[in-house]
Amino acid sequence: MAQVSVRNLTKIFHSNIIAVDNVTLGINNKEFMVLLGPSGCGKSTFLRLIAGLEKLTKGKIFIGDRLVNDVPAKDRDIAMVFQTYALYPHLTTFENMAFGLRLRRYPKSEIKERVNEAAEILGIKNLLNRLPKELSGGERQRVALGRAIVRKPLVFLFDEPLSNLDAKLRVQMRTEIHKLHLKLQATMIYVTHDQLEALTLGDRIAVMKDGEIFQVDDPMKIYNLPVNKFVASFIGAPPMNFMKGKLFQKDSKFYFNEGKIQVRVIDDMYERLRAYLGKEVILGIRPEDIYDRLFVSEAPPENIARVRIEVTELLGSEVYLYLNTGLHTLIARASTHTRPQVNSDIDVVFDMSKVHFFDKDTELTIV
Ligand SMILES: Nc1ncnc2c1ncn2[C@@H]1O[C@H](COP(=O)(O)OP(=O)(O)O)[C@@H](O)[C@H]1O
Ligand SMILES: [Mg+2]
Repeated sequence: MAQVSVRNLTKIFHSNIIAVDNVTLGINNKEFMVLLGPSGCGKSTFLRLIAGLEKLTKGKIFIGDRLVNDVPAKDRDIAMVFQTYALYPHLTTFENMAFGLRLRRYPKSEIKERVNEAAEILGIKNLLNRLPKELSGGERQRVALGRAIVRKPLVFLFDEPLSNLDAKLRVQMRTEIHKLHLKLQATMIYVTHDQLEALTLGDRIAVMKDGEIFQVDDPMKIYNLPVNKFVASFIGAPPMNFMKGKLFQKDSKFYFNEGKIQVRVIDDMYERLRAYLGKEVILGIRPEDIYDRLFVSEAPPENIARVRIEVTELLGSEVYLYLNTGLHTLIARASTHTRPQVNSDIDVVFDMSKVHFFDKDTELTIV
């Protein structure tokens, strides 16, 4: 069993930088956990603490059932794959993959067996005699993966392993890593700032900011039920739209008034929003939940807003509309049947069952 758990894990660098701030997180055996957050939020430090490459300031790290706080890196039975492949330039693919095993004095026959097995899994058997300079970027990253696989570690740690690859290769390698996880059935912790990698790879995603973890959930929960505005904004592309506005009640109905446009809140949200009546809140709506009125049959008149089209971006299968309410810019993802004119006005419909409301001060999700 190779679950990993950390409790109250904290790392403060000498200069009083809190890189990891009291993080408690459990990663299940065989789970693919993605740690997602912007650059500088403490992702690499978190991985390096688990690997034993960095000394923790406070807290506990367990690998399996073993407390490893004082276990040196080489005895933690972990393999790490970095962004830079760091292959030895004078060694062949085979020797690069065998290097760690030789250091650990594995018998020759076993080294050969393990390297061949890993090469088979990664589809690089034909590259075993090549030097790194004779390999493409993607092939080099495969060798770096191979070097981790041959160790048969309890846990794999990945630190943004795909960010040096070009866009197309990144997508391809993403699938490879997914397959690798299915094949090896190993516990993996994968760090990235790329929300799409997180959504596509993670059994669960932990969203991190400023050394803290805000939410740990499966990808669809993170997407549909973000706990705060930061999580809502970090997942999804184009990102969720936000508008400041006031909540008010008229007759028995609740409305959100942005200043220029107004929409009606669905009944299901009344209870959670009641305390905010008469106050400013933030409404969040994803680009796919704003529709061109022409394509909505029976649009509720109270959810229609007139906005100005500022820019359109055609992506082939869909078109992004940059819309201006007069106070806020919104992005809508529309079908290419929509052929809107820039600088003209358009009626859009808000799917009010999909909106989120956030507290203006704490930025926590209200509903
Ligand atoms: N060795 C170090 N000494 C001092 N500060 C560091 C060191 N390593 C990282 N930091 C700081 O800790 C914070 C988190 O860094 P890091 O874990 O590399 O973030 P990420 O991998 O998410 O980009 C940053 O503010 C960074 O400058
Ligand atoms: Mg990093």
